[in-house]
Amino acid sequence: MKIVDMHSVTKTYGGATALDGVSLEIAERERIVILGPSGCGKTTILRLIAGFIAPDTGSISIGGELVSKKGRIIKPPEERNLGMVFQDLALWPHLSVKGNIEFGLRARGMRKAERETRVRTMLDLVGMADYADRKPAELSGGQQQRVALARALVLEPKVLLMDEPLSSLDLELNLRLRKEILRLQETLGVTLLYVTHDRDEAFDMATRVVSMRRGRIEGVKTVSSSRGETA
Ligand SMILES: Nc1ncnc2c1ncn2[C@@H]1O[C@H](COP(=O)(O)OP(=O)(O)OP(=O)(O)O)[C@@H](O)[C@H]1O
Ligand SMILES: [Mg+2]
Repeated sequence: MKIVDMHSVTKTYGGATALDGVSLEIAERERIVILGPSGCGKTTILRLIAGFIAPDTGSISIGGELVSKKGRIIKPPEERNLGMVFQDLALWPHLSVKGNIEFGLRARGMRKAERETRVRTMLDLVGMADYADRKPAELSGGQQQRVALARALVLEPKVLLMDEPLSSLDLELNLRLRKEILRLQETLGVTLLYVTHDRDEAFDMATRVVSMRRGRIEGVKTVSSSRGETA
């Protein structure tokens, strides 16, 4: 089933075209990576799918339901069941690791016992159980990255949006976290939409790589994975 369907979307900012007739269909459990130079419209696609901005023309459906259409946000971000990890992570500095991961569950009104269980499971999955009570400032970049991932995944999103989540990390940590994201994606069966401007990272992470240039999709490549998966 198509979990995300962007159809003929255009987006302009004050007369400048950021996206020019972009169509993108994503199947469940796919790993789509959007690759392209700075300013080509990668983040704009994620913000449109997340529901922070509306398309000028065209439409977006998630899970078969129309969520945005021609200048209108039909379903707001909080009702789209998406997980998001952005480059700057935006962890709550005053909350502990546990508090950060728990935040969205509280907002949903989940009972304490169930929150605790879910947070524990996520902490174990991302290998951060020993750091539950630390504040973000007391963690390394890679550890913060894992907390951001856990915070997004604990809400069991249908789709995980990641905007250059590893680009500020050194290569060794970047490579290690790629593996962890792939492992979590497989374990949890989440659909991944991942943005990078690094070609190597794109082909490492993707089942399909979407190349963009100046607001348009230039090409789509299916990646034959050495991990034995099919796209
Ligand atoms: N809020 C905004 N107001 C005006 N122009 C914007 C706004 N957001 C993005 N743009 C413009 O739209 C175009 C696409 O921006 P976008 O952020 O999607 O690029 P990107 O591919 O994510 O780039 P980068 O790799 O640098 O993050 C750029 O030309 C950018 O300047
Ligand atoms: Mg961007």
